Parts: sequence; C-alpha cells; structure tokens
Amino acid sequence: MTTTTKTLVTGIQPTGRLHIGNYFGAFHQFVELQNTHESYFFIADLHAITSSEIQKDSQKFNEFINNIVLDSLALGVNPDKTCIYNQSEIPEISEIMWILSNFITVPTLSLGHAYKAAKSSKKELMFGLFAYPLLMASDILSVSADVVPVGKDQKQHLELTREIARKFNSNYKCDLLKIPGGHFCDMEEVVGTDGRKMSKSYKNTIPLFSGKENIKKSVMGIITDSKKEGEPLDPSTCTVFKYHTIFSKGALSDIEGRYKSGKINYKESKEILVDSIISYFAPFEEKRKEYENNSQLVSEILEKGTAQARGKIVEILNQIKKTVGIL
Ligand code: ADP
Ligand code: TRP
Repeated sequence: MTTTTKTLVTGIQPTGRLHIGNYFGAFHQFVELQNTHESYFFIADLHAITSSEIQKDSQKFNEFINNIVLDSLALGVNPDKTCIYNQSEIPEISEIMWILSNFITVPTLSLGHAYKAAKSSKKELMFGLFAYPLLMASDILSVSADVVPVGKDQKQHLELTREIARKFNSNYKCDLLKIPGGHFCDMEEVVGTDGRKMSKSYKNTIPLFSGKENIKKSVMGIITDSKKEGEPLDPSTCTVFKYHTIFSKGALSDIEGRYKSGKINYKESKEILVDSIISYFAPFEEKRKEYENNSQLVSEILEKGTAQARGKIVEILNQIKKTVGIL
C-alpha cells in the first residue's frame, strides 16, 4: 500500500446495483486518489440496513454486498493500494459510534436530510436512520481520515462528522480526532434518465454491470421532447446529449452538428449512446469477470483489507478509550 501523509476513506452502501452516477460521483475520483493516499474503502453494510427496502429481503441484501465488492474491484479500487473491507466485519467502528453518540445532540441529528425526509413522508422513524450520520462519523474518524471523497449530497454528513470531532477534542482538550476535509466530485451530479438526479430511489438509473440489454432498456427510456423527424434538436436541453458529453467524446462535435442540423433523431442518438456506454465500460466488465471467477482471491483481499484497517481502528479506539477514561 502507498503510504503518504494523507489518509482517504470512503464507503458505499450495498443497497442495489451500481449505476453510472455512482461511478462518476464516487469511484472515479477515489480510484485516482488512492494512488497518492493511504486509502480505505468499505462496504457500508451497517448503513444499508437502515433502508426499509433492504430489510425486506436478506438474501438480496447479501447478493448486493457480494456484487458491490466485485463491482468495486472491477472499477479500479486497487487492493494493493487500498484496504477494502466490510464495515460490519470491524465491530470497533460501532463501538466508537457509541462513544461518539455522547458528543452530538438529538436536535442536531434531527436536522439530518434522511431523517427529515423520512419524517415528512410519515414513515416509521427508526433510530438507525436517525443515527446514520453518527455511524458515518465513526467510519471516518476511526481511520483518522484527512479526505473523504463523496458526492455533494454527503456534505451535511461530513459537517456533522467535523462537529462531533471538534466537540470531543474540545471536551477532552486534545486533538485526537482528526477533522476531515471533503473531496467533492468536480463533475455536476449525473442526470438520471428522467432528467432528475440519477438515483436508485428514483428508478432512473443506467446500471453498470447488468448487461447490454439493461443498459439499452434504460437508454431507450430516456425522456426526450417530441420534436418531429428532421427538426433540429437542442443539445443543451437534451438528456441523451448530456450523456454523449461523457461517453461519446470522440464523436461529440459530429453528434452536436447533426443535432443542430436535424440530421439525427433521438432513437439514433440513443443507439449511438448505448454503444458508447458499452465500450466505455468494456474493460471494467472484463476485469469483473476475472474477479468473479476467482472467489478465493476476493476473500483474501477482504481478509487482508479487514485485518489492516482493523489494526488501525483498534489503535484509535484504544486512544479514545484512554482519553475518555475507560482503558
Ligand atoms: P443512490 O442515490 O443511487 O442511492 P448512493 O446514495 O448509494 O446512490 O450513492 C453512492 C455514492 O455515489 C455517493 O458518494 C453519492 O454521492 C454518489 N452518487 C450517487 N448518485 C449520483 C449522481 N447522480 N451523480 C453523482 N454522484 C452520485
Ligand atoms: N453515506 C454514504 C452514501 O450514502 C456512504 C458512507 C457511509 C460513507 N459511511 C461513509 C461515505 C464514510 C464516506 C465515508 O453514499
């Protein structure tokens, strides 16, 4: 593993199959940053249980976990550079969470986006969802992360993490807990097939690793306006074109010209896009197959990642305990 002064951590919830928003919003930047940081990447399975959907089918949940490990390795999370682990395999993270729960108030946690959303939709308000940001703070503070690459939607969680760390440090007049910085994706949020933010919960995703047919189905379902054949199309308002700017870079000016001169219809534009997406992710598909066929290697990667990360986390837990007076 590359050892540098800065530490990086990120987690991904196994609440479904990955989509291209996850790739550009989370993986793309992590994969770059792991080259220059001491890096930790984990499957946030304990966070995922806060989802009522996940609670409905434990077998499916287990499949999501296994798939996300393979997907992450295929997308370039590199086990030689990064500790890869399942959050639930390191019980000390939850132990740290309990101690940290004494350094954040109920009113502050009540401001959490997910909690507020559950409240306004009149869902049953479970404590796990309420405490979600606290567990995330523990994920981050337990490895003394300097940098946390996440999408902009996670900004509030990082602010809460900093608040908890400051409160703990100021209470014990120490600087034990490192105050992490964020690292937000430079790219705008990836748009979904219906024009809103791409998200599993909106069912508007273009999935990764689920075969050509599923990519095609999603792309063909992209909502467009109803211009007639031969009419010029406006690339600046077209969701299909937005994806071309990511995936069809080499052909972009040609596609743009054909949009403006009315020499392409949405169906053809979508067909080109399907091919562009497939060839963009083809190398990742290949790599995924290799891992899929070598479950022994994947287990070893997880074992090694867990042992290394746990070593560091236990050390921090012990320092926290000492600071608090329980060791
Ligand atoms: P979803 O909204 O589909 O449930 P998650 O909340 O599991 O996705 O997000 C996992 C990671 O991917 C987070 O870091 C999040 O910021 C990022 N992400 C998710 N959707 C997008 C998007 N449409 N554009 C950019 N980043 C995204
Ligand atoms: N909340 C993050 C998300 O939904 C996942 C996550 C859990 C995470 N713990 C983390 C991300 C720690 C970064 C660091 O995307």
